[in-house]
Amino acid sequence: MAERVIPLVDQRALALVPPLPQGALAPASGLLTDRLQRPLRDLRISVTDRCNFRCSYCMPKEVFDAQYRYLPHSALLSFEEITRLAQLFLQHGVYKIRLTGGEPLLRKGLENLVAQLAGLQTLDGSAPDLTLTTNGALLARKAPALKAAGLQRITVSLDSLDDAIFRRMNDVDFPLAEVLAGIDAAQAAGLQRIKVNMVVKRGTNDHEIVRMARHFRGSGITLRFIEYMDVGATNGWRMDQVVPSAEVIARLQAELPLVPLAPQAAGETAKRWGWADAQGRHDPALGEIGVISSVTEAFCGACNRARLSMEGRLYLCLFANQGWDLRSLLRSTASDAQLSAAIAHIWQGRSDRYSELRASLPADTSGGQARRIEMSYIGG
Ligand code: GTP
Ligand code: 5AD
Ligand code: SF4
Ligand code: SF4
Repeated sequence: MAERVIPLVDQRALALVPPLPQGALAPASGLLTDRLQRPLRDLRISVTDRCNFRCSYCMPKEVFDAQYRYLPHSALLSFEEITRLAQLFLQHGVYKIRLTGGEPLLRKGLENLVAQLAGLQTLDGSAPDLTLTTNGALLARKAPALKAAGLQRITVSLDSLDDAIFRRMNDVDFPLAEVLAGIDAAQAAGLQRIKVNMVVKRGTNDHEIVRMARHFRGSGITLRFIEYMDVGATNGWRMDQVVPSAEVIARLQAELPLVPLAPQAAGETAKRWGWADAQGRHDPALGEIGVISSVTEAFCGACNRARLSMEGRLYLCLFANQGWDLRSLLRSTASDAQLSAAIAHIWQGRSDRYSELRASLPADTSGGQARRIEMSYIGG
C-alpha cells in the first residue's frame, strides 16, 4: 500500500532571533543547564539537507522530488563557521559531536571539517568524541580519508539485509552489497565502536529483526533497533507501524539469550543488551545490541542534545518547529564571548520534551505533525 504523504510546509523559514548580549558576559563554565536541569553534552551538526536515498520514513520521493528546493551553497555554514561554533559548545560542556545530514558524505571535502573538529578540545582537555551518521553508500570510498582526518567512530543506517527490501526502502534501488562493503571498509580503516542503526517498521522490515541480530552478533559491530518515530511532517507515521522495543527484545530472546547491560553515560538514547554465553553471562566477544524506544519509552528526562542545522539554526529538540538563527550572529560582528553567552541564554530557556508529551496523547496521535522540521534537515 502506498504511504500517506502530507504536503511539506517549509519550516526552514521559521527562525528565532537569538539575543545578542552586551556588557559583562559570564564565561562558559560547563555547568550550563536548561529549565529541566538538563546539561548540554551532545552536539549534532547537520552538514547538508541533501541525500542520495529516499527512505519513505524520512525523505519520501513524492515530496523530495526534482522540484524540491534544497538550500544553496551560500546558505550553508562554512567549515570554519561550524568549527567556531563547535568550539564554543565544547566550552559549555559538550563532549560528543555527531555529523549528520541528509547524507553527510555528500558534503564536499567533509574530511576537512572532520580534521578541524578533531583538533578541538573538550573542557577536560581531551579531543571530542567525534562521530558521523551515514547511509553507507559512499563509505567504501571515503572511510580511509575520514579515519586519516581524525574520525574515531561511525554509525551506519541499515534497515534490511534483503537486497530487494533494502532497494525498496531506500527507494533509489541502491544495492545492499555496496553498503555492506562500506561497513567492511570502515572496519578495515580502523574506525572503532561501529554501530548500525535499523529503523524497524511493522510490515516492512520487522521480520528481519532476528536475521539482522544474527548477522552482526560477534562482528564487533553494535546493532541498534530504533522505534519508527513520528518525526517530521511527511512520512505519514502511524502507531501501528511502530514495533515496541519490548517486542524486539522478546523476539530476540526467543532465539538467542540476552542480558541487560548498565548504561555507559547519562542521557543515552539506547538501552543496551549483551549477548549471553551458556552460563547466562554477557559474552563480550559476542558483543551487544541496543534498543532506542523514543515512542514507547521516551528519554527526554535526561536529553542533553542540541542540533545545529546546515544553515546555522540551533534546534533544542528533534521535534521542534523553530530554530535559533545563529548564522546571523556568526555573520555579524558578534565576538566569541557574545556568541557563547547567546548559546548559554538559549539553552537555559529550554524546556522541550516532545516525546514524553506525545506519550500522554491518544495512541495514534502525532502532536502537531504539520508544523515540524524534517529529520533530513536536522539529522537523527
Ligand atoms: P551513540 O553515541 O553512538 O550511542 O549515538 P546516539 O544513540 O546518541 O545517536 P544516533 O544518532 O545513533 O541515534 C540513533 C537514533 O536515535 C536516531 O536516528 C533517532 O532515531 C533516535 N534519537 C537520537 N537522538 C534522539 C533524541 O534526542 N530524541 C529522540 N526522540 N530520538 C532520538
Ligand atoms: N524514525 C526513527 N528514525 C529515523 N531516522 C530517520 N527518520 C526516522 C524516523 N521517522 C533515522 C535513520 C538514520 C538517521 C539519520 O535517522 O535511521 O539512522
Ligand atoms: Fe537519507 Fe538517512 Fe533520511 Fe534515508 S534516513 S533518506 S539515508 S537521511
Ligand atoms: Fe530530546 Fe526532544 Fe528527543 Fe525528547 S524528543 S529526547 S527532548 S530531542
